[in-house]
Amino acid sequence: MDLPTESTPAVIHAPEAFRAACDQARAGGRRVALVPTMGALHAGHLALMEDARRRVGPDGLVAVSVFVNPTQFGPSEDFSRYPRELDADVARCATAGVDLVFAPSPRGMYPDGDQTRVRVAELAAPMCGVTRPMHFEGVATVVTKLFALAGPCVGVFGRKDYQQYRVISRLARDLFLPVEVVGLPTVREPDGLALSSRNRYLSPADRARATAIPTALRAVRDRYARGERSVIALLDVVSQGLAGSVDSVDYIELRDASELTVPLTPLPSEARAVLAIAVKIGQTRLIDNTVLGEVDVTLD
Ligand code: PAJ
Repeated sequence: MDLPTESTPAVIHAPEAFRAACDQARAGGRRVALVPTMGALHAGHLALMEDARRRVGPDGLVAVSVFVNPTQFGPSEDFSRYPRELDADVARCATAGVDLVFAPSPRGMYPDGDQTRVRVAELAAPMCGVTRPMHFEGVATVVTKLFALAGPCVGVFGRKDYQQYRVISRLARDLFLPVEVVGLPTVREPDGLALSSRNRYLSPADRARATAIPTALRAVRDRYARGERSVIALLDVVSQGLAGSVDSVDYIELRDASELTVPLTPLPSEARAVLAIAVKIGQTRLIDNTVLGEVDVTLD
């Protein structure tokens, strides 16, 4: 396959120009894939881009948005210190055969007078929604704006942010958006830690402690594989696995993998349940998850 791996992607800043590029591609018979990101790109993001390319084919348009979205950060969160490195990100996109990088300004995405927000009710309420109350509204709003600009496309997301993936799937469905939302497996370091732009905040000692996260997820998968179906027992495996290694636990939850509702206990045989955690190591908040009742190639 003749991929344009060496050519530098076009970088577009203006929303109208991004819309025009996507419209023009489709008018020429090309399929469009959009990979929304906040930049500081790593191998997890690149895997999404490579998958996007496979989905639209060598002639398709693979677009990556790079935008640190202010509305999804709480007042005391890391918006101002979130890494911004557009030139390096464009170079990384080039290695993944990306055609176009959309890097709007905050004013571009939220022009003066902007007052519309997208809220996904139940899916956004538990888990990360408890401690980050406006977070998913910010995510849902910016992703809806990106989808509105891109037009009919495949939207490629990672399951590392599992609740986000469920929220975005639902908003696309509920709003009849012409977007096929796909969620891809988590890319991990050799020791199992999920790649994240925030891992760079970890000191070497904290990075070492963070391996407790994938170890705890593997432990719960093992216990489940050996037949444990009690929700409390499964949650307990994870909290014991994390104890002593993390500084605080935001949540450890077992939820229906599709609706994120609280499952029956013991888990019914046909259940697909996501075990999701958010913890703090030092000042850094890390999230991870695994779906029980489903192969997890990244942990098994
Ligand atoms: P960001 O954290 O940059 O992530 C962009 C995409 O990469 C998301 O779909 C996320 O799930 C995926 N991703 C991150 N780490 C991954 C990993 N280790 N393996 C696989 N995929 C991974 O998520 C956001 O940005 C923002 O909330 C956004 C959707 C762009 C809206 O602002």
